[in-house]
Amino acid sequence: MIKPTPQLLHLPKIEDERGNLSFLENENQIPFKIKRVYWVYDVPGGEIRGSHAKKIPEIIIALSGSFDVFLSDGKQEFVFHLNRSYYGLFIPALTWRTVNNFSTNALALVVSEASYDANHYIRDYDQFLNQSNA
Ligand code: TYD
Repeated sequence: MIKPTPQLLHLPKIEDERGNLSFLENENQIPFKIKRVYWVYDVPGGEIRGSHAKKIPEIIIALSGSFDVFLSDGKQEFVFHLNRSYYGLFIPALTWRTVNNFSTNALALVVSEASYDANHYIRDYDQFLNQSNA
């Protein structure tokens, strides 16, 4: 089986002089069923979020402002600068993530395949490497 790779998904953008509109929906735009949506905001300057891997896939969108996402699948590293609300960054299961360089008023929306469960997290990098290369 080919392991899915981190990638930017171009979400639909309905341009309108009254303001633009984007959306995502199961089956059409994203490769999993949405179970949970959460968002990260009011991040103080210089803070770092993430620093973990999850056993489930997620998509992260910069709904407002910008931030950087560093990903590793255990072999290859990826860096994405998110600053447009019509790009969704697909983060496959078992991908280490670190998010930083949040701008003022940055709003990170995360679309998840599963409800929150602490057991989905791998917070130890060596353990992540063991599991991702197994
Ligand atoms: P975490 O996923 O580590 O945040 P980030 O990756 O942005 O740094 O979650 C931070 C805290 O919030 C942690 O104690 C778990 C809790 N949490 C929930 O209670 N529900 C959720 O849906 C999420 C994603 C986190």
